[in-house]
Amino acid sequence: MNSIIVYGSHYGTTKRYAEELSKRTNIKVISFKKINQQINEYDNIIYLGGLYAGGVLGMSKTIKKLNNILNKKIIIVTVGLSDPMDEVNKNNIRNNIKKQVSKEIFEKAKIFHLRGGIDYSKLNFTHKTMMKLLYNAVKNLPEEKQTAEDRAMIETYNKKVNFIDFSDLDKIINEVQK
Ligand SMILES: Cc1cc2nc3c(=O)[nH]c(=O)nc-3n(C[C@H](O)[C@H](O)[C@H](O)COP(=O)(O)O)c2cc1C
Repeated sequence: MNSIIVYGSHYGTTKRYAEELSKRTNIKVISFKKINQQINEYDNIIYLGGLYAGGVLGMSKTIKKLNNILNKKIIIVTVGLSDPMDEVNKNNIRNNIKKQVSKEIFEKAKIFHLRGGIDYSKLNFTHKTMMKLLYNAVKNLPEEKQTAEDRAMIETYNKKVNFIDFSDLDKIINEVQK
């Protein structure tokens, strides 16, 4: 079985997970920006994407390149700021993924969630503006109305935080090696 790790990352946290996964599994790693029809040569596709307003960066663009998924194993890994141990948050992420891929892919894919990080000093203008708008919309919500996503944003707003934990890759490595 030949495998490939493809990632979508703006600021490097997803890339770091993807490269570490590659190191630990000896599977080739490539950015979604560089992958083309050659993706069809692989039996196992492991896609890691940063979460941006619920979207998994580069995922649907990459998956659309697949001609036939019949004998393929597809693993989707999201990397976000919000806590994936929070069940509501996990369900939200999965419901969002459902909207970004076909039913066939959604049912076939094994889905995992990792926590990334953020450094506001590195954000581009658009992302900074988006975060400001989102922050202003949630900062005064009563606590019981805040989602895990809201809480993560309020707690980390304008800061530099890093939740990267490579030991969380173990469950993905198990799935890859199954
Ligand atoms: C504009 C913007 C939108 C984001 N939206 C989400 C989100 O919907 N859910 C989430 O958990 N994290 C969200 N994040 C946080 C990123 O997913 C997190 O910083 C991740 O580690 C980024 O991956 P990257 O460094 O590989 O680009 C957002 C960050 C930015 C800047």
